[in-house]
Amino acid sequence: MEKFGPIIRNAAEILHGGDYNPDQWLETPEIIDRDFELMEKSGCNTFSVGIFSWTALEPAPGKYRFDWLDRIMDRMAEHNFHVILATPSGAKPAWLATAHPEVCRVDENGLRQPYSWRHNHCWSSPFYRAKVREINSKLAKRYANHPALSGWHLSNEYSGSCYCDLCIDRFRSWLRERYGTLENLNRAWWNTFWSHIHTDWAEITPWGCSEGNSFDWKRFNTVQCCEFMKFEVDALRACAPDVPVTTNMMGFFDGLDYWRVAEVCDFISDDVYPGWGIEPDVRKILAECSMRHDMHRSMKNGKPFLIMESAPSATNWQPGHRLKRPNQHKLEELTAIGHGADGTLYFQWRKSRGNLEKFHGAVVDHVGTEETRVFRDVAELGALYRKCGGICGSAYPAQAAVVWDWECLWAFQTSSGPGSLEEKKYTETVQTFYRALWTKNIPLDVIESLSDFSKYRLLICPMMLMLKPGVAERLKAFVAAGGTVVMSYFSGYEDRDTNCFLGGWPGDGLMELFGIWNEEIGGIPAFDRQSICYEGREFDVSGYAERIHLRGAESLATYVVDPLYSGNPAVTVNRFGAGKAYYIAARTGEEFLSEFLGKLAADEGLEPVIPADNPGISATLRSNGEEEFLFLFNYTAEERSVRLPEGSYTALADGSARSGVVKLPPFGSEILKK
Ligand code: GAL
Repeated sequence: MEKFGPIIRNAAEILHGGDYNPDQWLETPEIIDRDFELMEKSGCNTFSVGIFSWTALEPAPGKYRFDWLDRIMDRMAEHNFHVILATPSGAKPAWLATAHPEVCRVDENGLRQPYSWRHNHCWSSPFYRAKVREINSKLAKRYANHPALSGWHLSNEYSGSCYCDLCIDRFRSWLRERYGTLENLNRAWWNTFWSHIHTDWAEITPWGCSEGNSFDWKRFNTVQCCEFMKFEVDALRACAPDVPVTTNMMGFFDGLDYWRVAEVCDFISDDVYPGWGIEPDVRKILAECSMRHDMHRSMKNGKPFLIMESAPSATNWQPGHRLKRPNQHKLEELTAIGHGADGTLYFQWRKSRGNLEKFHGAVVDHVGTEETRVFRDVAELGALYRKCGGICGSAYPAQAAVVWDWECLWAFQTSSGPGSLEEKKYTETVQTFYRALWTKNIPLDVIESLSDFSKYRLLICPMMLMLKPGVAERLKAFVAAGGTVVMSYFSGYEDRDTNCFLGGWPGDGLMELFGIWNEEIGGIPAFDRQSICYEGREFDVSGYAERIHLRGAESLATYVVDPLYSGNPAVTVNRFGAGKAYYIAARTGEEFLSEFLGKLAADEGLEPVIPADNPGISATLRSNGEEEFLFLFNYTAEERSVRLPEGSYTALADGSARSGVVKLPPFGSEILKK
């Protein structure tokens, strides 16, 4: 079993801490003194500093001051804390935007934005880049060898697009490189449709209504972001070559293909704000968090990742503003550790006194003491983390993977129909497939369609609308070599240009793999009833159902109820080489998926971490080759008992011995070392 090294420089412990904005408190040094006292008491050890500090560092053009940051860095080092130092490009100074309006973005209506919000600089502006290079270089030069500097935090939550002439020119150059000739581009975008043929590169804008045009603009935005990131990294690396770099992602945020962003990062970090006030079902909350954690771990081949931001209590921007109930904070954060994080940080260490985030949860509230429920929750977790050093770098072995792919998401977004975008529900559907196995405690990776399939035994591909080049071939090779693949309706319709495969679906050779022909897909509106019969039981179908035909596969379930579909196969299996290819032609609920995928996982010999007959409990396992760490989570509001697998365990929290049955309080969580 692989053991990974520390994700940031000089850190062998679980990271715990948060965004720290001392520049908001420079006029009240006693508050900063208090911060350091409270940081010790909270069991925090890692702080992301300087994220929005550009004006504090460069109050006027070319006039830098680092005195306050020097003092903070030194104090951090005195306390043996780690600093993940930010580049400040996420929010620009007003003086910069006023003197050089071209650093501001042009919005999609073609209007230059005034100086106002954050995260809104032009990706291309040479002047902005020059200023970013200058300040990044100064930071890197000054702090490269500072003992507190442990990592770089690039900007903040990169997002959005710029529609200025410079960015559009770059779009055209990128298209030229991608397609070579206009003929190729016109063919790829199917521009004979509505007379959209381009005869000059200069005609091309982000606003063209070809689906290929919209799709490529999305792709290009990731290219822009990654180029900007690389540019930021170059400035840092020149002086601090060995300091790892990350940028904080936002889970399944649809604006950037994070697999490409991940390639620019040394380690992955994510901002996670579960909907405690939105989703009443805690099982769904945890499963959704787990899925993104599994993706972030998979992005670097199993390497531990970091939660860069999470809310110690409620956020100010989510509806509901519900306070976390007892144990829920620990449950949320340990879910990340249990799925492969080596640290969980907060937004934010201390509540700002004014402005937009003054009501956002923080470790230290306006009262300024440790006498709050939230501080106690944080300190309790900090104390536990201090006993968890052995977990750092440990792996999370998974033999099954679920595919969730940004370009599939974009294919659903840009393709007009079938049905409305709200009905397609790509992400929710993949989450439902994921949850069906998560609930059974089967360890899963979450990968993209370009990832290596060969290390898995079971591969789940829900709604893989777009097949990128080579994916169908790799799926076939995977199954031929003995793997099991499950694919669902809405798969194999489009190539990478969003053009449909001809000659029958699932296309690109997948009819042969699955032994079926998908003749047509139909919507199942709420006023239609449809269901499938599987092993003598009926399961409801909603949303979509395909009329498929057997071309060598065997039917495992058939449609019942609607005469148009009745008797047609709905779930099939095809033997292909040494493996099996399953196809699910209709949108069933989680109940069917749980039954069906659970059985498949068992047939494949995939071991659950603990048997699924511990209702209300989710479990994960991390292992470093010598020790195993079993994580148990009670996602219900009642006390639950868990029957432990054979062996004797030690509870990390209090060192007590455990075996047999252990009890978890409502929303309780526990780490047991084997
Ligand atoms: C994040 C952002 C932070 C803070 C936080 C509030 O998206 O990166 O700076 O605004 O939200 O929840």
